[in-house]
Amino acid sequence: MNARIVSFGAYLPPKVVTNKDLEKMMDTSDEWIQQRSGIKERRWVEEGKDTCSSMAHKACEDALKKANLKADDIDAIIFGSLLTDNVFPGTGVLLQKSLGFSKNIPALDIKNQCSGFLYALSVANAWIKSGMYKRVLVCGSEVHSCRLDKSTRGRDVSVLFGDGAGACILEATDSEQGIIDIHIASQGEFADILCLKEPGSNFDLRRDFKSIEEQNWYPYMEGKTVFKHAVARMTESLSQLLDKNKFKNSDVDFVIAHQANMRINAMVLDQLKIPWEKTHHTIDRYGNTTMATIPLTMGEAVDLGKVKRGDLVSLVAFGAGFTWGSALIRY
Ligand code: UT7
Repeated sequence: MNARIVSFGAYLPPKVVTNKDLEKMMDTSDEWIQQRSGIKERRWVEEGKDTCSSMAHKACEDALKKANLKADDIDAIIFGSLLTDNVFPGTGVLLQKSLGFSKNIPALDIKNQCSGFLYALSVANAWIKSGMYKRVLVCGSEVHSCRLDKSTRGRDVSVLFGDGAGACILEATDSEQGIIDIHIASQGEFADILCLKEPGSNFDLRRDFKSIEEQNWYPYMEGKTVFKHAVARMTESLSQLLDKNKFKNSDVDFVIAHQANMRINAMVLDQLKIPWEKTHHTIDRYGNTTMATIPLTMGEAVDLGKVKRGDLVSLVAFGAGFTWGSALIRY
């Protein structure tokens, strides 16, 4: 039994925030952001209009519509996000409620940052291959904009991230189509290099809270270290997965890489000797939307006819943790 991708879904909040808009908030420039990351603009939610779960709902509805399926045709949900609507319960059950399931399917919430989609895919693949579930809905949704430091102090991080949601439906098939293999890995010794620590469970709101201005409730990132490891790990992961499955790099029809920095992806493709024409990017328009990025980007490549049924597609990602991974799919 193979786990085949049936459809993708996406939702981007309508508000476009350009690099020029950011220039008004912090000491940065359109030129710096484009040169260092490839980003021209990103989407940010408007207060009161979109939430993590409402965007997830819209992306899942889109995926269901494209697959011509109803919510009750799904047997399990896997949801991932850095920052969810609630501390608990997770957004998986909120999605289950809003999509209108009439049966009590399981909803699993994961937290694997930019590699989240690959981690989710590996679970969905195992569930389907084992015969446990027939159809699995995977969704990532991210509202970064509410927790970015939009002053000059946070400019190295805040210019990179955008809001949005991406979804994907996988189903059991006995055809050749589907996930061929997945590699996932993590290295917790680098957990402090890219993180958002507060307010976590070590933070007692009654004891530690001072004032909003005094708190540093923003993501921390050592950009150069992340960059260096991202290039090395993404290249290594995909290269080893291709070798293990006896494919040459030239057999790959298309690569969908996580969208954190256009220069990271250019270096990975260059080292793997995979031509630039065999990939698609959304980072210029959406920035980094963590777990939503891969389904958003692959869904767009499918809609544009760049990825076709039967193509050998590689996915590859790297993110906080550090976590990373790659997948080979006969789409
Ligand atoms: O999925 C995982 C998530 N994250 C990533 O993969 C991100 C990985 N890292 C990166 O993408 C890059 O390291 C950045 C885009 C974050 C930064 O690019 P860089 O080429 O590594 O720049 P840098 O950090 O070395 O900074 C160069 C200069 C510094 O000024 P000085 O010290 O040379 O005077 C920074 O203060 O650029 C300055 N800078 C900025 N200037 C204008 C940092 N951020 C900005 C900014 N606008 N937004």
